[in-house]
Amino acid sequence: MSESNTPVLVDLDDPNLTTFDIVREGARRDGIEIVHYEPQYPAGSKGERRMVRIVSFFFLLTGIASTAFVVAFIWWPWEYEMGSNPSKVYTPILGLTLGLALIGVGLGILTWGKKLLPHEIAIQDRHDGPSDPVERKITGETLKFIGSELSVARRPALKLSLLGLLPLGAVAAAVPIGAMIKDPHHPDVLFKTGFAGATPENPIKLVRDDYTPIRPEEVSTGGQITVFPGIPGGVSNKYADSPTLLIHLREDDAEVLRQSLYQINNGSPWQSYVAYSKICTHAGCPASLYEQQTNRLLCPCHQSQFLITDNARPVFGPATRSLPMLPITVDKDGHFAATSDYKVPVGPAFWEKS
Ligand code: FES
Repeated sequence: MSESNTPVLVDLDDPNLTTFDIVREGARRDGIEIVHYEPQYPAGSKGERRMVRIVSFFFLLTGIASTAFVVAFIWWPWEYEMGSNPSKVYTPILGLTLGLALIGVGLGILTWGKKLLPHEIAIQDRHDGPSDPVERKITGETLKFIGSELSVARRPALKLSLLGLLPLGAVAAAVPIGAMIKDPHHPDVLFKTGFAGATPENPIKLVRDDYTPIRPEEVSTGGQITVFPGIPGGVSNKYADSPTLLIHLREDDAEVLRQSLYQINNGSPWQSYVAYSKICTHAGCPASLYEQQTNRLLCPCHQSQFLITDNARPVFGPATRSLPMLPITVDKDGHFAATSDYKVPVGPAFWEKS
């Protein structure tokens, strides 16, 4: 039978009791019998010092890696640039340093728990009901005892290495702090595309992905083609917000569009050709499934549908904003060209947008 039911034999006010005696008695009153308690290493022994060094190493590794994360997050060149440059390794550096920091803190805590804390075997009976004041006092002593057994006070190296964990807190705060230190967005980068700079006098050609320009007769009635700004790098990821769908509407559909044009889109179509941003206004997927019979443009990601003959107004799905229309013309060479950038930002809505 468990000793949990035996009368209390120990006077807790006895000045000769050690903290561990009170802990053991407290456990006994709670129906817990500590049957084995033994430190893994004698205090100050060679084995203990070795384990302390290992734990310290992991915590210091955590400190160095998380400091490196914060430094890279704030100062490493992160903006995308063409060619081989330091911005290419920005994300891997963040991943590597954060990974090392987490591995360091994980292994440090594990090693501390498994190799430095004493071995204890205890048997506990279940019981119901709240704790009385005496038991609360015992709990307080127990926590004090655990604190002393963690032995940070008498292991200065361990205490010092814990300082290495401080930068880990900075890692958690790095993103909001970084956003305050440096505006992650180049001024108005979200408001212009590769067509920025196009004017009626100097239009920017619409080109295919091989940079060849397009003549009106090359897009059949009811057909569509993906086009890009005809500028250096215009087809690359540098201008990932610029892909545009050039559509040749049937004449009666073009007339429906002319009748319903938003004021901001006045003058943007050219004859029966119209160009819309391909970047879905819901979450930015390329919307390019053109359903010729219904004049709907479908986004494959979350099934938004845009009505091409009504300013690409969303008529189904989660998108709430029309696809922006690109003002187009045919230049003196007979090629399609944009006469200005999009008049509203392309892509998903964000809070700065009106
Ligand atoms: S990204 Fe197009 S519907 Fe969600």
